[in-house]
Amino acid sequence: MNVNLLLGLQWGDEGKGKIVDVLTANYDLIARFQGGPNAGHTLMFDGHKHVLHTIPSGIFHKKAKNIVGNGVVIDPVIFKKEIEDLAKFNLDIPSKLFISRKAHLILPTHRLLDAVSEASKGKAKIGSTLKGIGPTYMDKTGRNGMRVGDLELSDWKEKYKALAAKHLKMLDFFDVDVQFDLEELETEFYEAIKVLKTIPFIDSEEFINSALKNNQSILAEGAQGSLLDIDFGTYPFVTSSNTTAAGACTGLGVAPGKIGEVFGIFKAYTTRVGSGPFPTELFDEDGAKMAKVGNEFGATTGRPRRCGWLDLVALKYAVQINGATQLMMMKADVLSGFDKIKACTSYNYKGKEITHLPYNIEAHNVTPIFTEFECWNEDLTSITDFDTLPIQLKSYIKFIENFVEVPVKIVSVGPDRKQTIMR
Ligand code: GDP
Ligand code: IMO
Ligand code: MG
Repeated sequence: MNVNLLLGLQWGDEGKGKIVDVLTANYDLIARFQGGPNAGHTLMFDGHKHVLHTIPSGIFHKKAKNIVGNGVVIDPVIFKKEIEDLAKFNLDIPSKLFISRKAHLILPTHRLLDAVSEASKGKAKIGSTLKGIGPTYMDKTGRNGMRVGDLELSDWKEKYKALAAKHLKMLDFFDVDVQFDLEELETEFYEAIKVLKTIPFIDSEEFINSALKNNQSILAEGAQGSLLDIDFGTYPFVTSSNTTAAGACTGLGVAPGKIGEVFGIFKAYTTRVGSGPFPTELFDEDGAKMAKVGNEFGATTGRPRRCGWLDLVALKYAVQINGATQLMMMKADVLSGFDKIKACTSYNYKGKEITHLPYNIEAHNVTPIFTEFECWNEDLTSITDFDTLPIQLKSYIKFIENFVEVPVKIVSVGPDRKQTIMR
């Protein structure tokens, strides 16, 4: 058996949560491999909307087990809230959620460091979700971090205190006034750790590899998107983990040869939340319409998402880096009723037409060159069969498939589980 991956090909919020939930029926195990509660994955079924930040999107299914892998960073305070929000659904969470001992912990002081680091950047700020992601991964790679497995040791509070004391000194480095009540933050943190400890801690790499040997099917759930990858994204306006396919190997302990299908998920247009370059961004009525119809507000921070046309140059880049074998097009319903649809098929880069994603994609270096498509007027939200989709949408999909050389296997036409067309 192989591990299949599902990951975002754009700047996040492509609809990963929805599709993982839909696909979980076919899997024994769902595993998050990177990122932390900067993620907000939305699921909708039976008239309810759920937003998950740390817990994998397979949690609502009866049979599947869910793993928070070693590559994830966990904030016990946010995790406790997620567990509490799920309590009313009687999911028997400790029987089907497992946490890697090697996952790193986000401390309250990591959040403070994130806040002062962003504030000190002024206009150059990244637009971080301020969940402490950057500082926690810095401690991980700097070999100073605290891991979930440390909580099983009797002296974990001393380790915590030493690291927090260092962070407090680091706060002084920044010329930013930050108000906080450490005692209050620590009380909240300690209470949350009690809840975290009610979930089994495991050696997840061992767990996952034995599951593979026992022919169990595994789906790895990505967070963020390829253009937010620490290496291949629009640095420095990125997150601090490898969001691309390779991140699943290091974030779960799965060998590259064990990766099977790579499901690449993208919106029929593009969105981005936070700062950083976005060549196809729209500042006109079309962009406003996408934001309104697509209800484009961040699932974690509530911030409005910037909207623009599909960028096929960037999509092709993401397909290549990830080795995507199948594509899933989300939010096709949002484009109904536009005069024309556009997709960027090359860039004018410093006066020259190019078809790859260059090192600099800021507006002064890159102007998108668009190909236009006919749009459709039909409401797609009740369509269940690919063949009955409007011809204009089918041509748009065909063009995308030819451009990136990967087939589109799922078309999503609404936020609900049921609004998913399999091909
Ligand atoms: P994720 O972070 O990739 O899981 O995506 P988010 O949950 O942050 O954002 C996707 C948003 O689009 C959520 O509000 C979903 O409910 C919604 N959504 C997902 N698929 C569709 C779709 O096909 N059509 C529409 N209209 N909304 C969708
Ligand atoms: P999901 O999994 C969209 C963005 C932030 C910011 C940058 C760095 O829901 O798709 P960080 O908190 O990591 O320091 O923020 O990355 N970002 C996301 N944008 N979806 C996400 O996750 C994101 N996670 C982080 O807005 O620009
Ligand atoms: Mg999201």
